[in-house]
Amino acid sequence: MAIRLGDTAPDFVAPSTSGEIKFHDWLGDSWGVLFSHPADFTPVCTTELGTVARLKPEFDKRNTKVIGLSVDGLSDHNAWSKDIEETQGVALNFPLLADENRAVSTKYDMIHPNADSTLTVRSVFIIGPDKKVKLTLTYPASTGRNFDELLRVIDSLQLTSEHKVATPANWKHGEDCIIVPSVSNEEADALFPKGYNEIKPYLRTTPQPA
Ligand code: BEZ
Repeated sequence: MAIRLGDTAPDFVAPSTSGEIKFHDWLGDSWGVLFSHPADFTPVCTTELGTVARLKPEFDKRNTKVIGLSVDGLSDHNAWSKDIEETQGVALNFPLLADENRAVSTKYDMIHPNADSTLTVRSVFIIGPDKKVKLTLTYPASTGRNFDELLRVIDSLQLTSEHKVATPANWKHGEDCIIVPSVSNEEADALFPKGYNEIKPYLRTTPQPA
């Protein structure tokens, strides 16, 4: 069963390179990014994990924990970690789940049999502190993901959870936002003291709220 936005992220207990993970307990009050990769000792995955390790301080700044997963075992994960450090110049600094029995991949629908009957695709789930799924993404094995885009989405999710705004196409932190249509102009006057620009009644932009 596919996981949809707004669903509670399935809980699980699974081994990882940082010991046993009880997923919901491990998330605590943080945001989370759970992402799968097809297999250990593969080139694209090696670059992805190095990239996430390098960006870890950016996820930390956003109170967001990251965790990877593949259906390989812990001994492969540990051996491959050394290659990641050697080739990417950064050590793994977040847990990698070992899902040999495919229990987690099945719960999260990460194996797409018409793409590959055994390996996980490149799935991403962003999970809020309420444990609800806020974003899902699925990439094919041949395309490495853009993890800067995940940080951008987290910025948008965190902003829009606090303020009655949405973020436009290609928005980046600090740029103008859109006032959600359910807010009247009278309400907008009170909520957005920096003012707003009414381009159309349904399209009002405002500087990013603090
Ligand atoms: C890779 O990570 O390089 C990869 C994994 C599975 C299939 C194709 C590429």
